[in-house]
Amino acid sequence: MDTQVVIIGGGPAGLLLSQLLNRAGVETVILERSTRAHVLERIRAGILEWGTVELLREAGVGARMEAEGIPHDGCYMTDSDLMVHIDFKGLTGKQVMVYGQTEVTHDLYDAQDAMGTIIHHGVEDVRITGLDDAQAVVEFTLNGEARRLTCAYVAGCDGFHGVSRQSIPKEKRQEFERVYPFGWLGILSRTPPVNDELIYANSPHGFALASMRSETLVRYYVQVPLTDKVEDWSDDRFWTEFRRRIPAQAAERLVKGPSIEKSIAPLRSFASEPMRWGRLFLAGDAAHIVPPTGAKGLNLAVSDVFYLHQALIDMLKRGDARGIDGYSQRALARVWKAMRFSWQMTMMLHRFDGEDGFAAQMRRATMAHLAGSETARKDLAENYIGLPY
Ligand code: APR
Ligand code: PHB
Repeated sequence: MDTQVVIIGGGPAGLLLSQLLNRAGVETVILERSTRAHVLERIRAGILEWGTVELLREAGVGARMEAEGIPHDGCYMTDSDLMVHIDFKGLTGKQVMVYGQTEVTHDLYDAQDAMGTIIHHGVEDVRITGLDDAQAVVEFTLNGEARRLTCAYVAGCDGFHGVSRQSIPKEKRQEFERVYPFGWLGILSRTPPVNDELIYANSPHGFALASMRSETLVRYYVQVPLTDKVEDWSDDRFWTEFRRRIPAQAAERLVKGPSIEKSIAPLRSFASEPMRWGRLFLAGDAAHIVPPTGAKGLNLAVSDVFYLHQALIDMLKRGDARGIDGYSQRALARVWKAMRFSWQMTMMLHRFDGEDGFAAQMRRATMAHLAGSETARKDLAENYIGLPY
């Protein structure tokens, strides 16, 4: 065999899996469609569950995160002028870490370079075969040349649009989906955060989120119709809209500045079962997508990788197949709980076009219940900081 595990996709899931396997003495090759610069340009979420923080440390990529990440003890959920503080630390004893996915990916590339792992960028036409045979075969094109790798296992970490999930026969896959009738317009701006903790704001004008990357860099979002284009949103229009959606006390502190990135992402819940097919294992966005409302996307990719790296090491080092046999069920059990949480947060925090008075009352009552019940806040906090692996 050419290598033990071929990993399709050099995003956070693929890189972290490779790093953990390499540290345990398992050999990998990573195949990534884009350039490294392109992977590192994508702005994604920025909240790490503590389990994610611990696994990154264990993978030997914790140093810069420790130095530059900002631990957060809580966040705010607001509905017009009702502001509910969710005290993660007080309610669960745990925190989350503000540290961008781009930085995590950067640290993983550096660590993989230091390991000497082969990462092919610009691969095209990836085809996976032999999943029921004695070895798997991954064929692809690199710099115009046809290439072929044989391996014991293939990890499909190639995101929602990747080929890995499609390599499982269609009739054997079950897919579940909710597409929400709005998107999030996000901007990055070199300004101080409007608040020291995140604010998830539901207002009569729609949802807004005040997040951050550091003391001098903010990431702010507003809910927009799916038909909107980035070009429809000048910086001025963004700031006006954002300002009127966040609570008045916060709006007073808002510092505006030029945007250095602006993009619109649609909101979707999606899951595909099973996550294993013969010698192929899916992890991260390749198997499931959540709306960003609960900050679960990256964290779910990491919990998949936690289960998968253990399973592959047990099999390849000790011939113990229990982990790989149980992988799909184990990963999906956690995935579905995070899917539920992200969906519920999305329903609680957004206005739906054409919604009736009943829907609005349900949303308001959910928020009022949160304000009045420590049990309700604890439930939210427990999910937000991350369910145990
Ligand atoms: N061949 C090789 N690589 C591919 C292919 C393919 N056919 N298709 C996609 N890829 C690559 C993409 O270019 C991307 O770099 O796979 C990678 C998948 O990375 P992500 O989409 O970042 O997915 P994942 O690693 O699962 O990360 C989890 O958490 O915050 C969320 O969606 C966000 O990216 C985030 C995700
Ligand atoms: C972000 O900082 O980009 C972010 C934070 C929390 C979310 C989603 C996105 O729920």
